[in-house]
Amino acid sequence: MTEPDIKKGLAGVVVDYTAISKVNPETNSLLYRGYPVQELAATQPLEAVAYLLWNGELPDAEQLAELRLTERAHRAIPDDVRTTIDLVPLDAHPMDEVRTAVSLIGARDLAGSGSVLDASGSPEQNLERSIRLFAVLPAIVAYGQRRRRGLEPVAPRDDLDYAANFLWMTFGEEADEVVVDAFNRSMILYAEHSFNASTFTARVITSTLSDLYSAVVGAIGALKGPLHGGANEAVLHIFDEIGSAENVGAWLDQALAEKRKIMGFGHRVYKRGDSRVPTMKAALDTLVEHYDRPEVAALYDALESEFVARKGIYPNLDYPSGPAYNLIGFDTLTFTPLFVAARVTGWTAHIMEQLTSNTLIRPLSEYNGPDERHIDGYVADTAALEVADRAEEAAG
Ligand SMILES: CC(C)(COP(=O)(O)OP(=O)(O)OC[C@H]1O[C@@H](n2cnc3c(N)ncnc32)[C@H](O)[C@@H]1OP(=O)(O)O)[C@@H](O)C(=O)NCCC(=O)NCCS
Repeated sequence: MTEPDIKKGLAGVVVDYTAISKVNPETNSLLYRGYPVQELAATQPLEAVAYLLWNGELPDAEQLAELRLTERAHRAIPDDVRTTIDLVPLDAHPMDEVRTAVSLIGARDLAGSGSVLDASGSPEQNLERSIRLFAVLPAIVAYGQRRRRGLEPVAPRDDLDYAANFLWMTFGEEADEVVVDAFNRSMILYAEHSFNASTFTARVITSTLSDLYSAVVGAIGALKGPLHGGANEAVLHIFDEIGSAENVGAWLDQALAEKRKIMGFGHRVYKRGDSRVPTMKAALDTLVEHYDRPEVAALYDALESEFVARKGIYPNLDYPSGPAYNLIGFDTLTFTPLFVAARVTGWTAHIMEQLTSNTLIRPLSEYNGPDERHIDGYVADTAALEVADRAEEAAG
């Protein structure tokens, strides 16, 4: 018998086309609908990038104004969603809170919509659902952080753009322009990254013709893991453990001796550096200067140079974004929910793309369990034997 060609983790397997983004590890580039992500981060608000991911083109002034109008109209958390969030234990991970909130939003929206045969929705319905989820997620994430700190929620402001309003709802004060800009850039860098684990999860769920909310809930579950989105949170734990730049060498000696994975380093696709890191590192530098925290940059640089020198493994986007979110004032537990708020744009773009040329995603596996065996005293029923006979005949 020939050994099956198993691609563990689907590494290197191309499963479909996508026109949404192109990750090119050879040229260290990432394009959203053809535009380099660095150019988008430097020039666009996240709302325009969301429009681009969903529609294929950047919006003109009128289209952006229209999207912003809808987005601003759907920023507030509905009361029953807030009440449901309050049922989630305060010491549960906020990703569980976000997952629960999206699940309820989906159930509310789809209530009375008929049989599962209609679950996947029309392109118009799905675009509308995508915009509404994008609009409400900041309030959910901001409320989570405030709730854990024992603070009252802050209502959204419709005179602020997405990024500024997100910070307003989290901290209850207007953020400085340099902070809004760094935050907006981070959200654009997180928005989309082809067939990563959470996006692929969303596409698998969509491929069964389930609904957009179910696909997003599944994607949130996949993003929570520390090998994926949870890494930005894990980076901060590492920074806390190390303490300061001069401890890096000794800390790394021990971590490597214990065969620990150093979070924020390495990538399944990029093996010579993550294309998004320089842009996010520049944003982190502006924050370091703004908050006058040079020791953060010193620790960042020391760990990066020491780890690259020893292992030749480069930082990924989570490495600079973790400390950046910490400087802005987000709790470490809030980092991965921030990733959800950004990535929902990419997930929903992929959900809509999957539906335009859907094929059920159903790979095969090679069985390596026990040989066929039987329950003592069981007498096979004739119908089952007939099916087995038919299968044998068909196999030839
Ligand atoms: C992202 C990640 C899962 C990619 O994994 P992958 O493509 O399957 O690569 P592997 O995990 O097989 O790594 C290949 C080798 O590099 C090592 N390696 C990769 N990333 C490492 C890290 N962050 N720390 C220590 N060693 C690492 C592996 O241990 C493995 O070594 P080995 O060949 O001696 O067993 C992996 O790099 C990782 O766990 N990184 C930390 C988590 C993280 O930052 N995730 C966010 C990704 S955007």
